[in-house]
Amino acid sequence: MSHDAPCSNTLVFFVNGSKVEDADVDPECSLLVYLRTKLRLCGTKLGCGEGGCGACTVMLSKYIRAEDKVKHYSVNACLTPVASLHGLAVTTVEGIGSTKTGLHAVQERLAKAHGSQCGFCTPGIVMSMYTLLRNNPQPTMAQLDEYFTGNLCRCTGYRPILDGYRSLTTSAGPTCGKANCCMLNVGGCGTMNRENPVKNGGMEELDDESGRSGHNLFQASAMRPYDPSQEIIFPPELKVRNDLERERLEFKGPRVVFHRPATLEQLLHLKDLHPTAKIIGGNTEVGVEVQYKNQLYPVLINPINVAELTSIQETSTGMVFGAAVTLTAMEEVLKEQVTLKHESRTRVFAAIIEMLRWFAGKQIRNAAAIGGNIMTASPISDLNPLLTAAGATLTLHSKNGGERQVTLDHTFFTGYRRTVVHPQEVLININIPFTQQNEYFFGYKQARRREDDIAIVNAGCKVVFRPDSIEVLKLDLAFGGMAPTTVMALGTMKELVGRKWDASLLEDGTSQLTRDLPLAFSAPGGMVEYRRALTLSFFFKFYLSVRGLLNQILPELVAPLTHDEQLAVSPHQYTEPSSSQLFQRVSPGQSQIDPIGRPIVHTSAFKQTTGEAVYIDDMPPFVNELYAALVLSSRANAKILGIDESEALKVEGVERFICARDLSEERNQILDYEVFASKMVDCMGQVVGVVVAKDQPTAQRAARLVRVNYEDLDTPIITIQDAIDKKSWWNKWTMKRGDAEAALKAAPYTLEGETHIGGQEHFYMETNAHIAIPKGEDGEMEIISTTQNPSETQLAVAKALGVANNKVVCRVKRLGGGFGGKETRSTTISVPICVAASITGRPVRIMLDRHEDMVITGGRHPFLCRWRVGFTDQGIIKAADLHLYANSGNTQDLSFAVVHRSLYSTCNAYNWQNVSTTGYACKTNLPSNTAFRGFGAPQGMFCSEDIMERVAQHLHMDPKVVREKNLYKSGDTTHFGQVIERCTVSRCWEEVLDQSDYSTLRANVQKFNSEHTYKKRGVSVVPVMFSISFTLSWLNQAGALILIYRDGSVLLSHGGTEMGQGLHTKMIQVASRALGIPY
Ligand SMILES: Cc1cc2nc3c(=O)[nH]c(=O)nc-3n(C[C@H](O)[C@H](O)[C@H](O)COP(=O)(O)OP(=O)(O)OC[C@H]3O[C@@H](n4cnc5c(N)ncnc54)[C@H](O)[C@@H]3O)c2cc1C
Ligand code: FES
Ligand code: FES
Repeated sequence: MSHDAPCSNTLVFFVNGSKVEDADVDPECSLLVYLRTKLRLCGTKLGCGEGGCGACTVMLSKYIRAEDKVKHYSVNACLTPVASLHGLAVTTVEGIGSTKTGLHAVQERLAKAHGSQCGFCTPGIVMSMYTLLRNNPQPTMAQLDEYFTGNLCRCTGYRPILDGYRSLTTSAGPTCGKANCCMLNVGGCGTMNRENPVKNGGMEELDDESGRSGHNLFQASAMRPYDPSQEIIFPPELKVRNDLERERLEFKGPRVVFHRPATLEQLLHLKDLHPTAKIIGGNTEVGVEVQYKNQLYPVLINPINVAELTSIQETSTGMVFGAAVTLTAMEEVLKEQVTLKHESRTRVFAAIIEMLRWFAGKQIRNAAAIGGNIMTASPISDLNPLLTAAGATLTLHSKNGGERQVTLDHTFFTGYRRTVVHPQEVLININIPFTQQNEYFFGYKQARRREDDIAIVNAGCKVVFRPDSIEVLKLDLAFGGMAPTTVMALGTMKELVGRKWDASLLEDGTSQLTRDLPLAFSAPGGMVEYRRALTLSFFFKFYLSVRGLLNQILPELVAPLTHDEQLAVSPHQYTEPSSSQLFQRVSPGQSQIDPIGRPIVHTSAFKQTTGEAVYIDDMPPFVNELYAALVLSSRANAKILGIDESEALKVEGVERFICARDLSEERNQILDYEVFASKMVDCMGQVVGVVVAKDQPTAQRAARLVRVNYEDLDTPIITIQDAIDKKSWWNKWTMKRGDAEAALKAAPYTLEGETHIGGQEHFYMETNAHIAIPKGEDGEMEIISTTQNPSETQLAVAKALGVANNKVVCRVKRLGGGFGGKETRSTTISVPICVAASITGRPVRIMLDRHEDMVITGGRHPFLCRWRVGFTDQGIIKAADLHLYANSGNTQDLSFAVVHRSLYSTCNAYNWQNVSTTGYACKTNLPSNTAFRGFGAPQGMFCSEDIMERVAQHLHMDPKVVREKNLYKSGDTTHFGQVIERCTVSRCWEEVLDQSDYSTLRANVQKFNSEHTYKKRGVSVVPVMFSISFTLSWLNQAGALILIYRDGSVLLSHGGTEMGQGLHTKMIQVASRALGIPY
């Protein structure tokens, strides 16, 4: 077949068993957008759009003709181009079960195990589990863990998810045959017998024959078992038609052309014709560049059907992987090789397998290709250091230059994301060599979290010895994260050749490595000292690991590793997650129909696990609807000189640009912020204007064309220290008890210090989304919003529209998480949308992209606490003087209340005797920080706990003892004047110590630490006392409206919003008891 062979322009694939044929497919469209907008299958959610959260997980199925087998794999629909699905079958959450046709086992178990709270991550969780079961109907917990590496849940903490799904794994264990066997539940039989608390799914009789749960959180045995024979079949047409996988494809969109060549010749021809074309394998890198870095690649080439790029071959020197082979496929083959071959031959393979455990999440590994990782040439690529140290060779091919081989070494990467590969060349395959008997290889990665995170530093280390000696013949050390490219430590590699593998080699190697890998203090990524230290740690670990192996074959030349050293180099061991939850039983006399205190399934859980629950962006478009994109400030402190929207208005499909010019000064002002920045901006991410257009891509593209001219003002105030230097705070408040200053002077011991607490992103899974619908009468506006605060939204919208509050209706059905981030900050997005809807007279919708949401909305307040304490030799705190500075950002928002809450919590559960605590709400040029789980209390408590730790260190006392001595007792008065009655602090403390067996734990930790140099453990116990509720006492109340209809059904309306916490469920429980109606 030649390169001008006929090709198809019609995309053919299956979704949930139904055939989709599309002759007008846009190559820029992701599977997620296609499912949600074209097929209106809205169960699959958009959480991040960059492969990081798993909310968009779907299952792809492919018929492997050569093996007559169907392969299933989970992928992120947000990064999968729909154009790449030709000949494949897609299964979404809607395809496996529904509330109408019956739930699938994975849907039912998740719902009933309370594993779905806000529900926005839930369809993705369901689809990861479903894919696992399709591949392995009886998986282990380790496999389950692996399949969930790419799924985030912000609400549940994962325990109920794992509890629910454990019952579908081999860890559910053998059963005794009884219907309610505890092994069908969670945790097995007889665990947790301490004073017989009830454990999730533990052995408890059901309350009645209907299976209503009594004390059990859920009853796995009462749920449908997983039955693989009932699964939907793979579309027979895809098995029969082999033309789909053979044909050449070309899809033309308005801006991008997508090619899927069928042969290498066609591929080389295309690359010759379009040297800047992007070859996309998994699209996991290119997809993010397009989505978040505004890159446009007019020609995309998908090589997935070119045999040379997808084959895997064994040669006499190693394994050759086609560049388009996915990481999952490569891992499977390498694992097979490790089992088939002698250990000494596969040491590089073993290191790659280990590295892949920590490489992205399962969905990314299922899509991403080895060639994509190499050619991205990222300085923190996880594979490149390994392949470089291993001496992998690459086959490159171009139409005119023919084939050539290059070695992956220090000459391959020529600069940041640049390589020696020519634009017309295609990477065909990668040869990963076998190792020899006298050759050792290890890989290392350090990231902020172990799974699914990019490396801070990584490394590949190889050493070859002269036969039967410990003399180094060749050394290869490659590092990532230490330069703009993967680098080799050439000086060290050279200096250590010919040396014996002993302590002096380690010493010299360490010094030389420091010279080889200097990292400037201004290096991007920061953490310079840490990164330098990591390279030395890796080298040390490598030295020890190799020494241990040498000792096994040359014991006369090399001393064995000590137990301590062995532990330092032992690979990570998988431990099955275990959990338990203690909860209070209902009292024995409680009526069977009274649901209060009983574990009731979230009222929306079944709809959430089936994808039927409707979130804002799932709502079908209104007639005449427009889409909005915000124009955000790119300066932190600047005067606006002018705004030029002319280029944006030229984009076809753009309706209007709206900014401060469109509102009177008075209407533009909401509290202390403007709807649209008018004369100046005081943080980046401030809303300057809004573009409304026919759809999201058009609006977003046009918004990027709006030019805002600025004149920078003073250097922005960014950090708390900047604010302190400039005395920049909205206000400060002091709470006092006793005379802290005098008590400090009188105290036998004093200490002073600083405690820093960083900020935090809310990362609710559903970003801000709003639909504003002008009603056309009397200025009425309806806004459907992801706000936690409909009342404030109503007030702000009415103010900006210049109408009475009663003309604005704000509706909130459910939120995909809030955590405080949508309490007040959501109005900075919803109000401009309402203004746009009012001006255009048309419904306007917005759902922020993740990066927009993060830029605009702020997060948890970072705090700095400067403190002085006075105490006795027994650790009794006599005096404390604290100054808490909160980085509030550019508006007051809720900072006053947050700072107050931190002041209430600065003593945590301790009766500090003389206290002066002052809080400052610092005004800075950051997007306003806001409410966040705990509302300032965690910051206050963190500070007090740091003080307790440091006092204990100073006195060489056990911190637990110091804490204990200071705990509140009944009759004590807090530093804010509340007398504590029926104080339970000490009782809780004792229970926790007892149940956790703290003293044994601590003794074990101390013993371990005294015996080990390289690994250390820690254990700590801290009390938590959440001071008081709202300080505005009228906020500590709530009401509900009950309507009872003639058929006996009840409608309960209340003022809360459902964001995953199960508020509606709890309200129904309350109403059920109050009205005496069974739940
Ligand atoms: C959520 C997430 C997590 C990630 N985690 C990690 C991680 O832990 N470690 C890590 O190293 N990386 C990580 N990555 C980066 C990325 O997934 C990998 O680099 C992946 O291997 C890229 O493969 P791909 O097939 O998706 O590349 P694509 O996006 O398809 O292509 C990437 C680049 O390679 C070029 N290219 C691809 N094939 C060829 C070829 N045959 N010839 C010439 N050029 C070619 C493309 O043109 C493009 O420039 C992560 C990415 C995401 C989105
Ligand atoms: S991974 Fe696709 S939306 Fe987050
Ligand atoms: S239930 Fe998982 S993010 Fe809310």
